[in-house]
Amino acid sequence: MRDLLFAQGVEFPCGGQGRCRGCRIHVLEGQVSVNDAQRERLSAEELAQGWRLACQCMLEDDLVIELRQWDAAILVDETPFAFVPRPGLGVAVDLGTTTLVTQLLDRSTGRVLAVRTALNSQARFGADVMSRVQFGVAKDGAQQLRELIRQQIGSLIEQLVFAAKVPEAEIADVVVVGNTVMHHLFCGLDVEPLSRYPFESEHLGLQTFRAGDLGWKLSSQARVRFLPCLGGFVGSDILAGILATNLSEREDLNGLVDLGTNGEIVIGNRQGLLCASTAAGPAFEGARISMGMRASTGAISEVKVEDHRVNCRVLGNVPPQGLCGSGLVDAVAAGLELERIQPSGRFANGIGAWELAAPVVLTQSDIRELQLAKGAIAAGIRILLDRFGSSAGDLKKLYLAGAFGNYINRASAQRIGLISFPSEKVEAAGNTALLGAKLALFQPEGEDGSFASLRHRTKHVALNADQGFQDTYVEEMGFPNAGAGVWGLGAGETPDPNAQNPVPRT
Ligand code: FES
Repeated sequence: MRDLLFAQGVEFPCGGQGRCRGCRIHVLEGQVSVNDAQRERLSAEELAQGWRLACQCMLEDDLVIELRQWDAAILVDETPFAFVPRPGLGVAVDLGTTTLVTQLLDRSTGRVLAVRTALNSQARFGADVMSRVQFGVAKDGAQQLRELIRQQIGSLIEQLVFAAKVPEAEIADVVVVGNTVMHHLFCGLDVEPLSRYPFESEHLGLQTFRAGDLGWKLSSQARVRFLPCLGGFVGSDILAGILATNLSEREDLNGLVDLGTNGEIVIGNRQGLLCASTAAGPAFEGARISMGMRASTGAISEVKVEDHRVNCRVLGNVPPQGLCGSGLVDAVAAGLELERIQPSGRFANGIGAWELAAPVVLTQSDIRELQLAKGAIAAGIRILLDRFGSSAGDLKKLYLAGAFGNYINRASAQRIGLISFPSEKVEAAGNTALLGAKLALFQPEGEDGSFASLRHRTKHVALNADQGFQDTYVEEMGFPNAGAGVWGLGAGETPDPNAQNPVPRT
């Protein structure tokens, strides 16, 4: 059933492991058997009412089912950019772990002729990079994932050509960017080194193909480039982000942060750059949150304090169904302001859950998930600044890349200590990976050496090998005291030993 539903756009947040309940379906007609995973995750009452986990069901008969899931909100890019005209058409591809964005451009005018987006077809084998790596190291797994993604991008390019009504033979160049795991899986490189300490691969460089090698219906000589990664799990999506924000050419010190399951951070200027990745966990995407969901209809996306009470904004003006990443950050910021949540992250007065807007509640473990995520990012930023011999005050701008960076309330991000910079220094930068891929389409032939020089100037910092990381991480898991602007736990509070999980996956 999983493949059938996936083809219809249904998502499987835990990769079909039967752990997350994110694929719940309501069987209205027909029979599906129940296995142990479903008995574990669904209550007896739910099972009796016909609820099942789609990822655990075998299709044995015709069924009528009902399911309510979110639409994928995929961020494309419309940013104007400077370019030197080039002949032919080009395709830019942002290959994300969850989503895919492709744009067809006329390189003589810089005009975007068509856009196509999709969920990454590999997602049915795992929602995050580590589960994709685990699937990839198993027998035939990497080959299966490679074929899936190559076919999917090839088919999206066919759709672009069809939509723009242009001859496919005019496509001269395709640029793909993505994180290190996406890079390795697409290019057919061994992902095994990414599955174990120190999580480093030796094959991070630019990979070039001809369209004919990939079986794509383009001129067989069309060039396809997967841009190089920067180190560890910091991939070419961040290299593209550096191109898009011009970070490496500026005199001032600037930073770029991509907030996702794997937070990627880069800071620097024309003298040099430092980058790192850190396992933030999926809280920013609304996953592993008791009532978490994507930012779509029914999600509480904003929480404000008015007259000592919370006021929630629900996307789509419908009754609330869950909490997305931006709502979670706001809710915790509001809880701190109302003193319902202590700087340690514990609820005040021993309450176990806080009702934001019925039936949506914030639980103690939701706050813990957010602390893990924001602690990892804040610690990463602090350590990179430290290695640069700088402090937060030296940073001119901090760009937030990606969809979450676009929607997060900067004041709330500051209140919870995710970002310690004044809001005027923080800027939502949109889909910088896609913009960087587009810029690379306008580079003259033979200019690929500039990527090598950028890689050479960017040093990767392995946070898991940094002696100070664990302490900094634990410190950053606490919320700043109101108005104090300081980091860490409240006076007299000690970190909760059960909540400490400072070992990053990357
Ligand atoms: S339970 Fe997670 S995808 Fe089915």
